[in-house]
Amino acid sequence: MSEDENVENQEQQKQEEQEEAPSPKKKYEFIEDIPGVGPATAQKLRDLGYHTVESLAMATARELEPVGVGEKKAFSIIEAARSAIGVNFIRADELLKMRKNVLRLTTGSQALDKIVDGGLETQTITEFYGEYGSGKSQMCHQLCVNVQLPPERGGLSGAALYVDTENTFRLERIVQMAKHASLEPEEAVKNIIYAEAYTSDHQMFLLENADEIIKENNIKLIIVDSLTSHFRSEYIGREMLARRQQKLNKHMHKLIALARAFNTVAVVTNQVMAKPDVFFGDAVHPIGGHIVGHTSHTRIYLRRASRGPVRIARLVSSPYLPEGEEIFKVTENGIEDVSEEEKTSKRRGR
Ligand SMILES: Nc1ncnc2c1ncn2[C@@H]1O[C@H](COP(=O)(O)OP(=O)(O)O)[C@@H](O)[C@H]1O
Ligand SMILES: [Mg+2]
Repeated sequence: MSEDENVENQEQQKQEEQEEAPSPKKKYEFIEDIPGVGPATAQKLRDLGYHTVESLAMATARELEPVGVGEKKAFSIIEAARSAIGVNFIRADELLKMRKNVLRLTTGSQALDKIVDGGLETQTITEFYGEYGSGKSQMCHQLCVNVQLPPERGGLSGAALYVDTENTFRLERIVQMAKHASLEPEEAVKNIIYAEAYTSDHQMFLLENADEIIKENNIKLIIVDSLTSHFRSEYIGREMLARRQQKLNKHMHKLIALARAFNTVAVVTNQVMAKPDVFFGDAVHPIGGHIVGHTSHTRIYLRRASRGPVRIARLVSSPYLPEGEEIFKVTENGIEDVSEEEKTSKRRGR
């Protein structure tokens, strides 16, 4: 930084500091409304991906380090953002209230909804993992349609943000599913904001800059399909493992922050391969190991039942629900329940 720039920065900072101190109940609409955030600081925050008060509220002082305002001021900015949107230190009974804000999104299958206590929840991450063809991307497509439904039909009357890393998003599928759900297909596709991620860094960049898009478009579902494919192909070998985990961890942290800030459902997919050399226990093993495991709050393992449309979903880990297993099917219409008749004819081996 040149001498001139330095002086300018100090001036800017002094001026910003003279503005009013944060008042706890004030609502700030834009990041510039936060006391201590002048135009220069606001620009630097934007460059870092913080375009909204909501995303700022979920930041840590360390994440704001590159803004160069110092730790103390970073804290006060974050605190002001938090108080503006009503997240701060809270009593346990208020925590309960926050939990009450959790909304649920239907998967399209009542059986599957049942094992996750009524649908995928907002404010946390749900991970679908399974082999190639197990229905992970189909589920993602279906959720993009379902999120648009009104709450009485299991939706969130919102839009979806789709980060596609394998170029498997298909509008034709959305149209089919939307028609089946009695949504206007043209409207339904407008409510999906799509981005293809070309590399893992690009994928991270997309989420880091998604806050404004989420807010402006009433996004209620964020999808990353797949979470791990770029990471897996770019970070190869043992020496790269630590770096990969660190990056994945950061990416997941950002996703959780967005899900909390905007009360959205967050869904990631993770492809696994069967390990033919494993005879006991779990024969598949999700990529990303423990970090992804700990960060994603709900993990659902998908697998094919046999040939045909039937899939088995197993809730493998959840912060508060027991393990459970149910079946559903993937058809032209999308994700559907397996009917009782189909179940009995299957049992009879027909
Ligand atoms: N239009 C469709 N009608 C019926 N089944 C479909 C349709 N499109 C995809 N499928 C089913 O979904 C499978 C692909 O699942 P997908 O979600 O892409 O797998 P992955 O888990 O690898 O993401 C196909 O093999 C097929 O069984
Ligand atoms: Mg897929």
